Amino acid sequence: MTHKLLLLPGDGIGPEIVSQAERVIQTLGRTHGLSVELETALIGGAAYEAEGDPLPEQTLALAQASDAVLFGAVGGPQWDAIERDKRPERGLLRIRAGLDLFANLRPASLVPELAEASSLRPELVAGLDIMIVRELTGGIYFGQPREQGADRAFNTMVYSRSEIERIARRAFEIARLRDRRVCSVDKANVLEVSEFWRQTVTAVAADYPDVTLSHMYVDNAAMQLVRAPKQFDVIVTGNLFGDVLSDIAAMLTGSIGMLPSASLNEQSRGLYEPVHGSAPDIAGQDKANPLATILSLAMLLRYSLGETVMADAVERAVARVLADGLRTADLQSAGSTPVGTQAMGDAVIRALESA
Ligand code: NAI
Ligand code: MG
Repeated sequence: MTHKLLLLPGDGIGPEIVSQAERVIQTLGRTHGLSVELETALIGGAAYEAEGDPLPEQTLALAQASDAVLFGAVGGPQWDAIERDKRPERGLLRIRAGLDLFANLRPASLVPELAEASSLRPELVAGLDIMIVRELTGGIYFGQPREQGADRAFNTMVYSRSEIERIARRAFEIARLRDRRVCSVDKANVLEVSEFWRQTVTAVAADYPDVTLSHMYVDNAAMQLVRAPKQFDVIVTGNLFGDVLSDIAAMLTGSIGMLPSASLNEQSRGLYEPVHGSAPDIAGQDKANPLATILSLAMLLRYSLGETVMADAVERAVARVLADGLRTADLQSAGSTPVGTQAMGDAVIRALESA
């Protein structure tokens, strides 16, 4: 089957890191018979410069017609002063909305070789493998009514049954590809919406008897993530709690240059992107770590294309180059020489070819 993929390099280091992922796609064509129709389009500051719009109509149309989108990063100081609607980041927010991406997947995993770079004790995080599934289009960030007055302000935390059901199903299905454990995080001791969340997730769990469901209050979950993170497999939670917990989990792994993410819609189409931004401070210098983007490609293969064997192969290739001691500057410990973006891409490709 031929898959339709769209590449959106964006700004800053975006083009450098996405082009390494593109080379991995080409390699998979040779080593694993991956068949893709590849398009590239403009987004962010690059699109603003060319077309006066950070998300040109044509880019959105191409994204909507694709099985999956691999996105680099957008933004940079040269666009900080332009009107809000034209800023590069608006392009990303609009494409997320335009694709109806309600499920945000943020893995936090750490190969043992990188445990020394973590801010925590290595034995706590070596071999860590958590997946946080965050609801992305509901909850308090979008709830109505919302208002800011002179002396008081409020937002509304609201979830409908169908919103909870679809994110819960997604989490259970992901757990089936992993260790079959889901921990649902809420604040059911205080919030009505959380009590409803807990009941609804529990009802959905009846359809997944092979997956173990547990519940945890969000304050305890924050503590447990730092105290004993390896206890978790899949964490499913709402928009606000997921925002905070996914950033805590990210810091367990030490490096922003290693973190992939995915956002999926109901059809399992999705947008895949590194967690980091456009890193203007190192753009164009062959310094950027391409692994977060290459690992985002692995997620794309797994969750949107169903190409599990290829996803595993890419993840193993990344683990292999790290085990061989290759480090971009962001991962580096004192005394060794870092490799550049291109050389890291070369190494991943060699590891794929020799597997
Ligand atoms: P950033 O993530 O771009 O950079 C933070 C620090 O991490 C910098 O020192 C950078 O050099 C380093 N870094 C980031 N990615 C790296 C990589 N792959 N390899 C090696 N080092 C890496 O965040 P910052 O500096 O706050 O934002 C820069 C620009 O990126 C801004 O315009 C911001 O709006 C935009 N941004 C875009 C995002 C996106 O497109 N999804 C997300 C976050 C920020
Ligand atoms: Mg956040």
